Amino acid sequence: MSSRVPLTYGKKVIELFRSPKNLGKIDNADAEALAGSLACGDMIAIYLKIDETNGKIVDAKFESYGCAANIAAASILTEMIKGKSLQDAWKVSWKEVSDELGGLPSVKYHCGVLAVGALRRAIRDYYADKPKPDWLPQELTREEKQALEEEKLMEILSRRAQKSSAN
Ligand code: FES
Repeated sequence: MSSRVPLTYGKKVIELFRSPKNLGKIDNADAEALAGSLACGDMIAIYLKIDETNGKIVDAKFESYGCAANIAAASILTEMIKGKSLQDAWKVSWKEVSDELGGLPSVKYHCGVLAVGALRRAIRDYYADKPKPDWLPQELTREEKQALEEEKLMEILSRRAQKSSAN
């Protein structure tokens, strides 16, 4: 008998898990980020196409190696930011993403945070070789810190694995 307690996902999460919108890669994306969660080791990639003349997001896609909640969160997030300016997209919180999904179970909050953190990393990537706008914080936000770049994630996870095998 399994000791796992089934998660209560809402209708919207299940729907987007089954038929995710904006799943895939944008070739020649103007900004992208691959980031993973330390909470679970799962990864997500976000791709953005940006209209340089007005700084608006014209297309957004994602690839997720995460759970149903992460797929649904990334899917709805990419829907929410299409047509938005980068500044407005930056402001979208994981809570808004969760609300749009009809709520996430509390053990799955980090899956929504991962989607938002990866988006912010992609926005930061866009400005890597451009003058930074005033609204872009110099310090990484909490969401970005929870959506670590691949190398950093691997480094921490392998350190953890070494520690636990030494115990
Ligand atoms: Fe890893 Fe949801 S459990 S992204």
